[in-house]
Amino acid sequence: MKQNTVATLAAMKARGEKISQLTCYDYSTARLMDEVGINTILVGDSLGMTMQGYPDTLPVTVDEMIIYGRSVARACKNTFVVLDMPFMSYQVSPEQALTNAGRMMKEAMVDCVKLEGGKEVCPQIRAITAAGIPVCAHVGMTPQSYHSYGGFKVQGKEEDSARRVLEDALAVQEAGAFAVVLECVPPKLAALITKKLDIITIGIGAGSGCDGQVLVFQDMLGINGDHVPKFVKTFAQVGQIMKRAFQDYDSQVKDGSFPTAKESYSKSDCSDAILSRLDREYNPEEPFKICSVL
Ligand code: KIV
Repeated sequence: MKQNTVATLAAMKARGEKISQLTCYDYSTARLMDEVGINTILVGDSLGMTMQGYPDTLPVTVDEMIIYGRSVARACKNTFVVLDMPFMSYQVSPEQALTNAGRMMKEAMVDCVKLEGGKEVCPQIRAITAAGIPVCAHVGMTPQSYHSYGGFKVQGKEEDSARRVLEDALAVQEAGAFAVVLECVPPKLAALITKKLDIITIGIGAGSGCDGQVLVFQDMLGINGDHVPKFVKTFAQVGQIMKRAFQDYDSQVKDGSFPTAKESYSKSDCSDAILSRLDREYNPEEPFKICSVL
């Protein structure tokens, strides 16, 4: 069994220990996160933007999520893996939600699924959890619905919307979710919700009062382009390091300084005798005939 499970994560909340989560979409990066002890990875549908270059998450499909999810899951010996259900893979009905959640669990071999929404997706959460699949919910600013807010906007600033976010969080808990992401919610509201809930809250742009935190890994490594949301902390300027390395590679290939003997199989090089035979036999003046080699 992994070191991080639904049970150990719940125990961390009970002990007041903070939970770390990062998004990740590939095997090599997931291995690094697993090795350093990140508690949980979210294979978020944010991959539509970070990996596929779409302007939002809406075009992502279940098949695509399975491919990315499987790559991450293969790397995680101890990190708990959450796989996002993409837009329109669960909204239609509880049956649709269960069918897709089941497929994602079987084919990607992740530890749970995540879906966005509050009261309106409770029938879906009930259907999925009744089949023994853990569900992480996601309330506040839910990117799959950003068209209905008119953009990526903080949710819960006024009393009505604060009440709605709190009631959504209580509703998904009641429906059986074991955790809930609070995205772009004012910090004091997120802290209040965390206090009211028995299940784990994971914040993104929701202040320090949540049980855990998640960031998109390209954001925290400075790999993303121009727009960096206010809630992001850049932990290392990996983007600049990568650019420098790409530039060095480009110039060394072009000026011939890469590869050197050190990066070549020089010790097992062909003998001069072989080379001069090949040189004699393959004369560019005579057309090469496949049948002559067969
Ligand atoms: O898709 C995603 O990466 C997410 C996080 C931003 C919470 O849902």
